[in-house]
Amino acid sequence: MADISIDYMGLKLGSPVIAGSSTLTKDMDSLKKAEDAGAGAVVLKSLFEEELRQDAGEIEDDYHPEAYDYMNADAAMVYGSAEYLEYVKKAADKISIPVIASINCEGTKWWTDFAANIEEAGADAIELNVAFVPFDKDINGTSAEQKYIDVVKSVKNKVDIPVAVKIGSNFSAIPNMVQKLQDAGADSITMFNKYFQLKINTKTLELEPIHTFSEPSDAYSVLRWVAITSRQCNIDISATTGVYNEDMLLQYLLAGAKTVQVASALYKDGMSVISDLNSGLASWMKHRNIENVSEMIGLAAKKKVKQVQTFERLQYIKIADGAIFQ
Ligand SMILES: Cc1cc2nc3c(=O)[nH]c(=O)nc-3n(C[C@H](O)[C@H](O)[C@H](O)COP(=O)(O)O)c2cc1C
Repeated sequence: MADISIDYMGLKLGSPVIAGSSTLTKDMDSLKKAEDAGAGAVVLKSLFEEELRQDAGEIEDDYHPEAYDYMNADAAMVYGSAEYLEYVKKAADKISIPVIASINCEGTKWWTDFAANIEEAGADAIELNVAFVPFDKDINGTSAEQKYIDVVKSVKNKVDIPVAVKIGSNFSAIPNMVQKLQDAGADSITMFNKYFQLKINTKTLELEPIHTFSEPSDAYSVLRWVAITSRQCNIDISATTGVYNEDMLLQYLLAGAKTVQVASALYKDGMSVISDLNSGLASWMKHRNIENVSEMIGLAAKKKVKQVQTFERLQYIKIADGAIFQ
């Protein structure tokens, strides 16, 4: 019998499939359904820094773009910090798989104490969804990166539970940034954050949000960076984007991710996606005589340097019959 249990940033998961942070993981019944379907863990809906600032009386009318996205996705759901702690407690009571709380933050100011409260409330880990993007021409990349490092250091100083960092794909040097986050104390990196997209309505000239779930093909740019990073950095990686079937789950694990986080497919096809992913993984392992899932992590990346170098090729040179020729 294939063993699909895995150690992820020190947590023992029954499966590498995690129900990713979304409005679905806000709902207690959905959390239970995710557990029953065989999820290894759940990431709770994020608490956005804006909500903490509101509690502190610093209401700003220019929401951070990502917060705007996710809050718009379910405008009725707005947590204050007390409500969020209550939510973490309820989730930890309701299910026995690991509960990963999620904080969406831009800087250190709001987090230092609140992260400790989240730990006390019963979270098994925290995922920091750091979403600081230097939109201002006077902010350079180095100072933007430093913000991430400062957030990780300050949270790690306050909690004993593992801390994952969910990053965007917009760094100029992703493996180097991952290494810096690991040096700052991060226990895992989640690749990648999905940012809010806007379109211009050509009739009204107004901006409108585009609420799209991932497409399966969105996974491949993430796959590239999982493979390239996992070969160089000795830190757990959780891949998120475009997992709809076991083939993508397998690809992410073979590229070096220890876990995957699924959201869009759960909206579209329900929690049974999780059990399908688990059984697809187990039968692939059985077919290959792989006893424990940890044996296959990075099998197509870490040990195949030349293959990963192909991932580093950015431009097509020649394509024939669907294959790339160099
Ligand atoms: C409706 C919706 C709400 C989401 N809310 C959050 C959130 O609060 N925090 C977060 O870190 N990610 C959030 N995400 C991103 C997902 O956790 C996931 O990383 C992303 O959607 C990519 O995975 P997918 O392709 O399976 O959807 C949300 C995604 C969706 C679709």
